[in-house]
Amino acid sequence: MKYLIGIDIGTSATKAVLFDETGKTIAEASADYRLSHPQPAWAEQDPQDWWEATVRTINVVMKSPGVSSDDVAGVGITGQMHGLVLLDEKGAVLRPSILWCDQRTAEEADDITNAIGRDDLVRITGNPAMTGFTAAKMLWVRKYEPGIWAKTAKILLPKDYVRYRLTGVMAFDVSDASGTQLLDIERRDWSHVVLEKLGFDKGLLSKVYESPAEAGRVTSQAAKLTGLRAGTIIAAGAGDQAAAAVGNGIIRPGAVSVNVGSSGVVFVYSNHVVRDLEGRVHTLCHAVPGAWHMMGVTQGAGLSMKWFKDQFYDYEKKNVGNIYQLIDSQAALIPPGSAGLYFLPYLMGERSPHMNPTARGVFFGISANHTKAHFTRALMEGVAYSLKDCLEVFTEMGIEPTSIRLSGGAGSSEVWRGIIADVFGTDLDLMTDAESGTRGAAILAGVASGIFGDIASAAARFKWMTQPVRHNPDHAEMYRARHRLYQKLYSQLKPCFNHAVSIESEM
Ligand code: XUL
Repeated sequence: MKYLIGIDIGTSATKAVLFDETGKTIAEASADYRLSHPQPAWAEQDPQDWWEATVRTINVVMKSPGVSSDDVAGVGITGQMHGLVLLDEKGAVLRPSILWCDQRTAEEADDITNAIGRDDLVRITGNPAMTGFTAAKMLWVRKYEPGIWAKTAKILLPKDYVRYRLTGVMAFDVSDASGTQLLDIERRDWSHVVLEKLGFDKGLLSKVYESPAEAGRVTSQAAKLTGLRAGTIIAAGAGDQAAAAVGNGIIRPGAVSVNVGSSGVVFVYSNHVVRDLEGRVHTLCHAVPGAWHMMGVTQGAGLSMKWFKDQFYDYEKKNVGNIYQLIDSQAALIPPGSAGLYFLPYLMGERSPHMNPTARGVFFGISANHTKAHFTRALMEGVAYSLKDCLEVFTEMGIEPTSIRLSGGAGSSEVWRGIIADVFGTDLDLMTDAESGTRGAAILAGVASGIFGDIASAAARFKWMTQPVRHNPDHAEMYRARHRLYQKLYSQLKPCFNHAVSIESEM
């Protein structure tokens, strides 16, 4: 029997899962790390933490009884997208990575639009200039940290940095590279026009591979640290959303997936490039060669829940076994609608559909009868409304999903997944198997190592199990009116968000 490993460099933790070649989960491990916020709506992590977590988790799964390193045919790697890792000429990390959800780059995003022109930028990269994407972060470092920029020889994305530590090879894959805003997404290679207009040397970048291609082999040094065999094939892999979509079977037109990790994403497959000219959803290369995808992104989905848990369930966290079960049971006490309490999950600004880095989180409608349980449920409902906003953009674009597959943290919560189905007003298919991201990464590794001919045949072996999540039409009806008020709250508060940010920046 051959085995495959999927590794996911997430925002809150790194996970490694060992699958056998039929897609059965044999072992899994997870290691957490810190997310630091040096200023409001900034977010950074130390790439060394990702590496240490990767070494720890691979070691755990490699100790599975009866599995020898010779039996591991390949490793696939995925992770949080857009994060900027800056390396000097010796490959050493120059500063903490600036992450996907960091919002410091509003001015630099404008600089990109001015340098390239909005239409050309959308035509070439698929998207208007975005604070979350990597190019704006590079401009920010060049402007505010010229000493660091002068030493920068190479840039990488989070999972590509970890692959570099495993193989000694610097590389990108097309799906994650699309999120740098430096890729020509039709040609699936770096854009000379964008690089030149932004004044970036192509030498900063490395080769871009299709996701299921081999992009390196484990070095003997990494083999000693991880327990893998030196020479094990590592696939190029994919950004977390494209990998999760592969893991959820979104590899042909039809079904749409909703993946709720730190961010919340509504993901649509396409076999040609489709752009939302208003820029409300992103268009990127898919991990499936010759395919693209669109996605609507809620910045603060699981991220909002983690923030709420850390700040308001601190006592319970220290004294209760399974904190998420407790949070669920609290939310279940409250009827749909949270007795008039609303949450806007814009803790780190918002992407779809607003693309507004100055938006901030809001609880609205607080009254004296509200308890912590109301706030808990309102938070889940607010994230669901935001995902519904993403779905509505696709409906407006004429994209009607045949079904919706749900994966990620919110899927494991009975209450939260019910809320999402009710807010969407439709039944969902819950992915019940292990982690979609690591599953997708392992599928890519299976193709890279030659176990499978292509993603479709790998996916046919890695059968996914789903469980229906039924929506309640009465709840759906009452959520419809509340969703309209939720949308109105954003438009009414938009000038206040800008005002609040300008007051804070004057201090
Ligand atoms: C996608 C995005 C997030 C991160 C973290 O554009 O920014 O999904 O990849 O999950």
